[in-house]
Amino acid sequence: MAELTIRQIADYVGQEVTLRGWVYNRTDKGKLQFIQLRDGTGIIQCVAFKKEMDEGEFEIAGKLTQESSVIVTGTVRQDSRAPGIPGGYELGIKTLTLVSMADEYPITPKEHGVEFLMDQRHLWLRSSRQWAILRIRATIIKALRDFMDMNGYLLVDTPILTPTAGENTTSLFEIDYHGEPAFLAQTGQLYNEANMMAFGKVYCFGPTFRAEKSKTRRHLQEFWMMEPEAAFVNLEELMTLEEQMITYVVGQVLEKHRPELGVIERDISRLEAIQMPFVRISYDEAIERLQKLYESMEPGEAKDELKITWGEDFGSPHETALAGMFERPVFVYHYPTAVKAFYMQPVEGRPEVCRSVDLLAPEGYGEIIGGSERIYDPKLLDERIATIGLHPENYKWYLDLRKFGSVPHAGFGIGIERTVAWVCGLSHIRETIPYARMLNRKYP
Ligand code: 4AD
Ligand code: MG
Repeated sequence: MAELTIRQIADYVGQEVTLRGWVYNRTDKGKLQFIQLRDGTGIIQCVAFKKEMDEGEFEIAGKLTQESSVIVTGTVRQDSRAPGIPGGYELGIKTLTLVSMADEYPITPKEHGVEFLMDQRHLWLRSSRQWAILRIRATIIKALRDFMDMNGYLLVDTPILTPTAGENTTSLFEIDYHGEPAFLAQTGQLYNEANMMAFGKVYCFGPTFRAEKSKTRRHLQEFWMMEPEAAFVNLEELMTLEEQMITYVVGQVLEKHRPELGVIERDISRLEAIQMPFVRISYDEAIERLQKLYESMEPGEAKDELKITWGEDFGSPHETALAGMFERPVFVYHYPTAVKAFYMQPVEGRPEVCRSVDLLAPEGYGEIIGGSERIYDPKLLDERIATIGLHPENYKWYLDLRKFGSVPHAGFGIGIERTVAWVCGLSHIRETIPYARMLNRKYP
């Protein structure tokens, strides 16, 4: 008698197996009890038939509440009508052992409000939609790591407690570090650059923190980011690496998660359209396109949102409009230096724009990757740090990197949650992470 998971059930048709899990749902048909059993890998319909079971055990089956935990043994049958994930199989129960009868469960198949569900997040994770999203998230993370590993990048971790700002000074979480201020890392990048000088190609993968006063569907206070950094790589090569990586990641999700994509009702054709090459346009061209679109629009709120002049950063409506002009993801490169981080390399002969690139996801998901070439000239970096108002003494070690064998280099950061939101087609980032930290939420 094999003990196995629902995911493996197709290989056991006609055999007797044991499943351990939780009651997702139950339908009472008198002499028949249909139990939807979930075990973390899927959901299968288990049928308790009075005549085929011990009387006491059948009685328990008829009392099982939602989310009670059980162990069942029975024979696997193929039945194309049987619901479940992946579906198409059924277990004819022979024995049933109750592990724990659940109290009345707060989340029922009826509709609940989002705030209620977020308060119940520790339980909501068990719902099939949330379960599907987080399984896809795990695959996205694994695919990202695998891609970097396969391409010769070494995982080198970066600190979370840091003495200085990594990205900007406006979204820092300050903590008390034994009487001195310290900050939760906004990025691993600056340390990545030091690590890159030691290992050539590196990446870090960890939680990052932004005390942003934004309440949008794209912003979290705590999010996960993977950041590669490579010596002797320029902006064009960086874009190629990014499009190869995204294509690989989407391919892995399509290959491994048909059942999950089905649960969340994702339009798979939109993911299948993610093929190389992606679109590459300059910030200048993006502005032109946006202004043309603006001119062509009827007066109203949607139009007002799109107003933009050269030099301004894009807001969500601009990113959405730009991405909407193409089927595939869009690279926008050479942003104005003034709207980007201090470490970005200016374009030669045109210092008002920099060697930066953002990747905008299709379907209105906006920026999922930000990256750039880094300033590698010590004098220029010194100047930038001073102009921006950062304390040079805090960045002494970072400037050292430009003194001891400086090389042109580039890197990027991909936000995991925004990527999951796009791949899964979700309207809000809060469902892409097990426990979202937002402006107005840190519970549970
Ligand atoms: O564009 P960002 O701020 O870039 C950096 O931090 C660079 N140091 C990365 C690098 O070059 N090594 O952030 C990178 C990505 C964004 O494109 C977005 O996907 C995500 O991180 N991100 C957020 N995701 C959720 N909530 C937030 N508040 C986010 N801020 C950035
Ligand atoms: Mg950015």
